[in-house]
Amino acid sequence: MTESFSTLCLRFKPQYFGASLSLRAMCVSSWRMQLGLTWLLLLSFTPRCDSMPDPRQREALRKLELSRKIGGGVVLNEKEKLLDGKLYQMKRQEMAAPDFPPAKHFFKAKSLIDASPVFSLLQKMPKGAALHVHDFAMVGVDWLVKNVTYRENCYVCFTDDGSVRFVFLSTQPKVAPFCSAWVLLKSLREKHNTTELDNSFIRNLTLFTEDPDSEYPNQDVVWKRFEQAFLVAYGLVTYAPVFKDYLYEGLRQFYMDNIMYVEIRALLPLTYELDGSLNSRDWSMRACQDVVQFFTAQYPDFIGTRIIFTVHRGLNSTQAVTVVKEAIRLQRDFPDIMAGFDFVGHEDSGNPLWYFKEALGLPEELGVHLPYFFHAGETNSEGTAVDQNIMDALLFNTSRIGHGFAMPRHPVVKELARKMDVPVEVCPISNQVLQLVSDLRNHPAAILMAEGHPMVISSDDPALFGASGLSYDYYQAFMGFGGMISNLATLKELVLNSLRYSSLSPALKEKAIEALLKKWDKFVSESLL
Ligand SMILES: *[C@@H]1O[C@H](CO)[C@@H](O)[C@H](O)[C@H]1NC(C)=O
Ligand SMILES: *[C@@H]1O[C@H](CO)[C@@H](O)[C@H](O)[C@H]1NC(C)=O
Ligand SMILES: *[C@@H]1O[C@H](CO)[C@@H](O)[C@H](O)[C@H]1NC(C)=O
Ligand SMILES: *[C@@H]1O[C@H](CO)[C@@H](O)[C@H](O)[C@H]1NC(C)=O
Ligand SMILES: *[C@@H]1O[C@H](CO)[C@@H](O)[C@H](O)[C@H]1NC(C)=O
Ligand SMILES: [Zn+2]
Repeated sequence: MTESFSTLCLRFKPQYFGASLSLRAMCVSSWRMQLGLTWLLLLSFTPRCDSMPDPRQREALRKLELSRKIGGGVVLNEKEKLLDGKLYQMKRQEMAAPDFPPAKHFFKAKSLIDASPVFSLLQKMPKGAALHVHDFAMVGVDWLVKNVTYRENCYVCFTDDGSVRFVFLSTQPKVAPFCSAWVLLKSLREKHNTTELDNSFIRNLTLFTEDPDSEYPNQDVVWKRFEQAFLVAYGLVTYAPVFKDYLYEGLRQFYMDNIMYVEIRALLPLTYELDGSLNSRDWSMRACQDVVQFFTAQYPDFIGTRIIFTVHRGLNSTQAVTVVKEAIRLQRDFPDIMAGFDFVGHEDSGNPLWYFKEALGLPEELGVHLPYFFHAGETNSEGTAVDQNIMDALLFNTSRIGHGFAMPRHPVVKELARKMDVPVEVCPISNQVLQLVSDLRNHPAAILMAEGHPMVISSDDPALFGASGLSYDYYQAFMGFGGMISNLATLKELVLNSLRYSSLSPALKEKAIEALLKKWDKFVSESLL
């Protein structure tokens, strides 16, 4: 069906072209009727020739539009309808409050969200999977400072640009470039106010500040701080014993937020021992396997973790060939835990995907399958080389798109993604803190959500933003760009999507979804008490 809405209007309601401005705007827009059903629906109304639009037609249009949103096809049972009604009231009340959290910077909104009844319900909601989180940003930084830096043999040095670095070593470490002499933290703590020292470490490990607008005047500044914070955590997290504990603690924090499965974008750096010796990358993979096995033995309703191997997009094309070969090897040697490959880092200042085309074509050339999970479209620079990343991600058969913030600006690519059933991983708080959008009601995912584009919600780097798990991001999606039309059906579809679009095998996926639906029913019943 290719007949346009304007023809339809002309045929039935010519008088509206003179009479109603808003309807004229609607009619002349080139909205194409794509569903035969829609066509029939509209045809079945007898046109009225007075000045009032037909209320039945109005209602039919409204329903049609609602049916397209995420959750538009979900049928709620009686209990779910009751909870939906309750949720609607809670939502309305919070929307009416003068201090609306999604409209503020997360650093200022967090305490408001913590006090929100909707948030508290979202925390209890089983959220399925977290599909977009990074290995060094899963665990709240308090744990890094209060637990990890208090371990034996921890040294600290102070960099020329006001930051810190950590290392564990059995002997005095050699001086690092641009850093003071290494000091044993234990002896430093004896001489200093420990509370103040620890707080300064916490500030170095997150982006949190009371005044984000003046501290981070632009994206480059905030990205610089972001990469700096990774370097601070690096020396702590790559110490072999901490590497395992960190992963365990990360899984625990996600599990506590009612998440049953996690896919981690992991740099898989080489870990080191107390004598300074380095372990292989295979050691890291085996460590992940061991930790996940240990964790699932303790929490049997947690189904596991898979790793997406990531490298920085600052690499050159020759280096990229080497790492893609390494990814292929890891995929072959660790098929259970290895999910695929991706690039990380600030998209605007890194190499675009097309620059890596030889490396990315390698698996197919070699006749092996290496699934891709590309970050793409985490930008608001329209029309640059980087802005082609979403298209190129799809051309390289990506399984999901990390962020896809630029998606609504690419109508053809958007249609292609939908045909290929490739979801976007929307991370609202990350996009706000890294300055792609300020008021989350204006997040482009609002459009994608309204048209039912495949989507999952994730948290990217919760530890760096002072968030945790997924609940804060669900809150922003549900209250911010979800608006009043997103409801319990929306949440149910988003939660199910997280497992549907995971890299789990079809058999495991089916089992996981079954388990999730049981948790969901329990959540609905308990929330009605
Ligand atoms: C640090 O964490 C480890 C592993 O999670 C735990 O065994 C240990 O008791 C913790 N130590 C402190 C000081 O909290
Ligand atoms: C350490 O600093 C904190 C915060 O500035 C202060 O409240 C506390 O009294 C200080 N402790 C000591 C022992 O000086
Ligand atoms: C990082 O830690 C150093 C040393 O304690 C401190 O001087 C500096 O202010 C901290 N940086 C931030 C951003 O708080
Ligand atoms: C990439 O970097 C490596 C090491 O720095 C260098 O040997 C190689 O020539 C570079 N390749 C390209 C295409 O620039
Ligand atoms: C594209 O990716 C999917 C899912 O990972 C896979 O099943 C399919 O074989 C891939 N197709 C090509 C042409 O690589
Ligand atoms: Zn990311």
